Amino acid sequence: MKHYKVAVIAGDGVGPEVLAEGMKVLRRIAELSGTFAVDFIEFPWGCEYYLKHGKMMDEDGMEKLKQFDAIYLGAVGYPGVPDHVSLGDLLLKIRRGFDQYVNLRPIQLLAGAPCPLKDIPREEIDMLVVRENSEGEYANVGARLYQGKPEEVVLQTGVFSRKGTERIIRYAYELARKNKKTLTSISKGNALGYSMVFWDEIFAEISKEYPDVEIHSYLVDAASMFFVKDPKRFQIVVTSNLFGDILTDLGAAIAGGMGLAAGANINPERNYPSMFEPIHGSAPDIAGKGLANPLAAIWSISQMLDFWGQETFGKTILEIIEQILVEKRILTPDLGGQAGTAAVGNEVVRLLEQKI
Ligand code: NAI
Ligand code: MG
Repeated sequence: MKHYKVAVIAGDGVGPEVLAEGMKVLRRIAELSGTFAVDFIEFPWGCEYYLKHGKMMDEDGMEKLKQFDAIYLGAVGYPGVPDHVSLGDLLLKIRRGFDQYVNLRPIQLLAGAPCPLKDIPREEIDMLVVRENSEGEYANVGARLYQGKPEEVVLQTGVFSRKGTERIIRYAYELARKNKKTLTSISKGNALGYSMVFWDEIFAEISKEYPDVEIHSYLVDAASMFFVKDPKRFQIVVTSNLFGDILTDLGAAIAGGMGLAAGANINPERNYPSMFEPIHGSAPDIAGKGLANPLAAIWSISQMLDFWGQETFGKTILEIIEQILVEKRILTPDLGGQAGTAAVGNEVVRLLEQKI
């Protein structure tokens, strides 16, 4: 029997509340499968840990995480600890240190999910955004000169390496080929005359290796408009770190909101563990009340199963989320219901027992 080892970093705010439900779901799937088992090891890292110990994770934290098959992350960040510390010393440290250069964010409108776009058939919002996750605009390279003086100057440099750009674009082409989908690159070559011209050139270069893949290319401003006006244009989307960050929040908004948005940080070579997370933050405004929506965290379990090659179970989870959204009996307040976090998790487990 295959044993998967999952490192759990529940983190801050609603992180532990929603991850408890995701773990409940994965534990039950493993039991019902009869073919694999899952061990969870929890790490108490995050802002509370920082306030006690002066660090977001242990010194040998990365060493400890290395041996796992996946990392399951809740949310990090809480009032009292600056966001650049909490994000930089934990989340970004893991993404960079484990070369998780692909950020996969499904933007799929499930039946029953709320959508602010009027009368849109749900099949018209069904895309997968492949966001560059290791460099680009978030490389954190720059300078600040003459601070506080009238001649103050700041520079923030985008870093686009050939290796980094080729590998993310090639990953997206492979996905498009495998799933027989179109591939759209989103960039901004008309204004960013170095980085995005380079991006566009590489996108065109690699297209020669994939004559079977239908491709499109959009400027990011036009793409933002079409995400709202005509989202069916997009199937597989590949874009840079910053554009991907913004576009996927827009995507989350048209596909049911933050309570339903999941993301995976993938190291495709599998040299290091990949990390699965709901994309929302610690939601301090509702933390501790048992009202957070666990469906995004549960959706990220579906991504974890897909990554392990257990796609049948990954798909079952999505079908169950859809059923819960359609039935509207047990939903958290963000989706118009009155149920608590644990009740939604329990309902997913109940439906799993019927389906598997
Ligand atoms: P947020 O995502 O925590 O909250 C935004 C809004 O969405 C709030 O009204 C919140 O109540 C709601 N919301 C979020 N998740 C929800 C859920 N599961 N169910 C129901 N409603 C939910 O973003 P915000 O407020 O900008 O950030 C709060 C903290 O989280 C900050 O410290 C920030 O740095 C951190 N953060 C961490 C992220 C991560 O760990 N990946 C991502 C985004 C923010
Ligand atoms: Mg974001």
